[in-house]
Amino acid sequence: MNDTVRTLLEHRTVRSFTGKPVSEDVMQTLFEVARRTATAAFYQGFHIIRVKDPKIREVLHEASTQPYVGGSKGELLVFVADVYRNAKIREEAGLEPGPEEWATLYNLAQLDAALAAQSVVVAAESLGLGTVYLGSINRQRPQVAEALGLPERTAVVFGLLIGHPEKVPAEQKPRIPLELLVSVDTYRPAQDYHARLAAYDREVQAYYGTREENSREDTFTNHIEANFGAGGAEQAPMLEFLHGAKLALRDRP
Ligand SMILES: Cc1cc2nc3c(=O)[nH]c(=O)nc-3n(C[C@H](O)[C@H](O)[C@H](O)COP(=O)(O)O)c2cc1C
Repeated sequence: MNDTVRTLLEHRTVRSFTGKPVSEDVMQTLFEVARRTATAAFYQGFHIIRVKDPKIREVLHEASTQPYVGGSKGELLVFVADVYRNAKIREEAGLEPGPEEWATLYNLAQLDAALAAQSVVVAAESLGLGTVYLGSINRQRPQVAEALGLPERTAVVFGLLIGHPEKVPAEQKPRIPLELLVSVDTYRPAQDYHARLAAYDREVQAYYGTREENSREDTFTNHIEANFGAGGAEQAPMLEFLHGAKLALRDRP
């Protein structure tokens, strides 16, 4: 056990922040941490937008429909999958467009953005800050892309709100047991899969039933049956947007 592992194991999403600003020193450290993260094929295919303009933040708030995105509490970062930067390098070298239109390279850019963001989350939590990822800002991709001035071959992966926690949830959200999550050599459900899933359902039910806020009657399997694909960002048109942004146009020919 060490402090890094303890930070990771203590993770909880925080959704309420005080008005105390995150210091500039800390923000610069978080950006350095993002920059230092492993990157697929050394492409560095991501970009971070730090939203300071209240009008732009309001566009993101409206897109998300989540109250904690509005106002001025916490720093709002947007992680962008960026194929544009590398496409420009290639274009200026006189190369024909090709790989920049492949779904695989867009996928790598998304991974880079997500990994950098997770480094920022871990670093922020280790410094006593709270964070919440915001996939919800993708409910309105065109409006958000316009507000952020996104060039072609870029797409928002998610937002990330970072701040001094007003309230850290006392309970941790239970996760799938390791027996259902990890297998050796080949993908194999645990032998007692249904019993373990039922036990996990009971654990999640107890968590929802006793947690301080928004307590409710629910299980994991019910959540998947009822909500899988039902979120606003999950239902928003995606391929149409990506094609318009000249992203993920095709497989490698
Ligand atoms: C890619 C991604 C997108 C997410 N989007 C949102 C979001 O839009 N709003 C929100 O309140 N939480 C969001 N979350 C946080 C999850 O709801 C949260 O991680 C999950 O419920 C587990 O809770 P925990 O992080 O406290 O353990 C997101 C998390 C991830 C990884």
